[in-house]
Amino acid sequence: MEPIHITDVAPRDGLQNQQVHLPVESKLELIRLLADAGVRSVEATSFVSPRAVPQMADAGELVPQLRAALPALRSSVLVPNLKGLERAHVAGAQEIAVVLSATETMNRKNINMGLEQATEVSEQTLAAAQRLGLRTRAYVAVAFDCPFEGETPLAEVVRLAARMHAAGAGEIVLADTIGSASPGQVKERVAAVREVVPIERLALHLHDTRGMGVANAWAGLEAGVRRFDSSVGGIGGCPFAPGAAGNLATEDLVLMAERSGFDTGISIAGLLAAVDFAQDELQRPLGGRSIHWLRRHTLSQPTTSGS
Ligand code: COA
Ligand code: ZN
Repeated sequence: MEPIHITDVAPRDGLQNQQVHLPVESKLELIRLLADAGVRSVEATSFVSPRAVPQMADAGELVPQLRAALPALRSSVLVPNLKGLERAHVAGAQEIAVVLSATETMNRKNINMGLEQATEVSEQTLAAAQRLGLRTRAYVAVAFDCPFEGETPLAEVVRLAARMHAAGAGEIVLADTIGSASPGQVKERVAAVREVVPIERLALHLHDTRGMGVANAWAGLEAGVRRFDSSVGGIGGCPFAPGAAGNLATEDLVLMAERSGFDTGISIAGLLAAVDFAQDELQRPLGGRSIHWLRRHTLSQPTTSGS
């Protein structure tokens, strides 16, 4: 079976937007459960302004504890600027992600910079990270629609993806920040972006606001993408993008991919343990579209069909 690579972004994209603020120990336990399930890569936290996102204020404590507890787990941290990179480096982070939105307004709302400044700051941050020997990812956020400006021009997405590639980003992540993409759009946009970014470096970060997350992931697979961001239990959403509901649930993505002949290396039973833990901690029901079926059919079988 052909492998695909999944980064679980629940610890960052999921927890940044929750009413309940989890302590470091709970975040570490969630990440440990993900690693136990076979997840090889997570986005652990973000080094952003604690005033902007108080849920991530403990990033400096989390990263060294995570590295000590799970040294083999690949984990990235989101940094919006050089100050974030410096904090991440001091904490011992090995991989960072910059976040560039493809519209003027989204950059201003998210990181208080215009598009041109955000592009330059992302380039500087990527360059500095590479000098420090860190792995890098670059989000191109609102790569389909912007909650403030409507449909994002495809030419802008291609232009910015090319700039992030030229700046040396190891992975370019096209993000459907508000979950408005359709499978046809995914095919069209991936086809255009792969002209300027090698397909092996291209990832899709999907949300499931309109129930099209799995269909969009399938469109991505058909278009050649083999790297995806998803969030266990579908926890997620950007606090600065109105209407952004949960992420594509990792359990939905794994179920679809494994049943379509791809190898994720991830156990659904293991993911369900992480969903149960997150539910208890966040005190609300969680889970993707397949959760009820999975709960009935997975518990007796320790792993998914393929792994
Ligand atoms: N981490 C922690 N503090 C930071 C920081 C970072 N990465 N970057 C700046 N700051 C601090 C500054 O030191 C300054 O502190 P002070 O007031 O105590 O001196 C304060 O924040 C303001 O700095 P400034 O450069 O003017 O930032 P800003 O107010 O324009 O905010 C960001 C810019 C990027 C820091 C802020 O908008 C942010 O953190 N956004 C993140 C949004 C996010 O996480 N979105 C969801 C994920 S996509
Ligand atoms: Zn997201």
